[in-house]
Amino acid sequence: MSKTITFHDHHPQIQSLKSAVIAGLSKPNKSIPPKYFYDERGSKLFAEICEQPEYYPPNIERALLSKITEEIFHLTGTNRLIIEPGAGSATKIRILLDPLKPSAYLPMDISCEYLRSSAAEIADDFPWLPVHAVCVDFTHSIPLPDTAPKGHRMAFFPGSSIGNFTPHEARSFLEMVRQTLSPGGLLLIGVDTKKPADILNAAYNDAAGITAAFNLNLLHRIRDEVKADCNPENFEHLAFYNQTLGRIEMHLISRCRQTLHLSDYQFQLEEGESIHTENSYKYTPDEFIDLATQAGLQPVQHWLDDQKLFALYLLQA
Ligand code: AVI
Repeated sequence: MSKTITFHDHHPQIQSLKSAVIAGLSKPNKSIPPKYFYDERGSKLFAEICEQPEYYPPNIERALLSKITEEIFHLTGTNRLIIEPGAGSATKIRILLDPLKPSAYLPMDISCEYLRSSAAEIADDFPWLPVHAVCVDFTHSIPLPDTAPKGHRMAFFPGSSIGNFTPHEARSFLEMVRQTLSPGGLLLIGVDTKKPADILNAAYNDAAGITAAFNLNLLHRIRDEVKADCNPENFEHLAFYNQTLGRIEMHLISRCRQTLHLSDYQFQLEEGESIHTENSYKYTPDEFIDLATQAGLQPVQHWLDDQKLFALYLLQA
């Protein structure tokens, strides 16, 4: 069977690491956005996190998706245009492609090279499927190429990536997805649930230290790419569940009083001071359905695994 693959480069602009570091370290509560975790080493470390026994989301979500494929099929039918913002390595969508027989698959990602290779692998493995890859910062726009077939749409957003937005940002993102879907379109989204703090704390403090290395990798980037005189050994990884705000927080904690020099800037850190690097919000089904409804998406069905560790929601625009 002949295969179709097209590539659309929207030249996503990402604020340079240097300007993000200067802006983030100038704040009274220092912070650096989590998107800067994902250089080549950071992406590899994230893939390793996904294999740690304590980091339950990937396995639970995959098992749940496989278990409910038939139900999803009955609710969505076949022949939809499937859009996946932030597709990355595009592994979970593979579970759905044969059963849902989409009219086309549109993976989107900010990393063009990564997207090219994962889109090509999908096209090789599913030769009947037209693939239209779009390189774009999907947090700002979800552009559909003219070459994509018309017809019913479905967005797929697994992995609880929605949790890395604040609830306010998450609502804006869901509104943008709703507009892209047009009325009647569907969104299948994976969301991590609220659960006892010990399970969450273990998931972000794996015994092998991979999450710590992932967090500290940011300092390696700041030292090697931005040429700041920072020594990663002067910092330690801290991740904990903030019960009040319903989120995991990741921080880099300064082990001593130190000054970072970066071009003409100097940043003083006290012993114990934090650079906040990531939030990962967790939602009960009621909370998430409320958020989705506020964004104009109606709940169709949702599923949890037996231990209620992770949820998948099917929502309609
Ligand atoms: C990508 N994202 C959904 C992960 C999470 O769980 O928030 C990122 C991560 N950070 C540390 N471990 C995993």
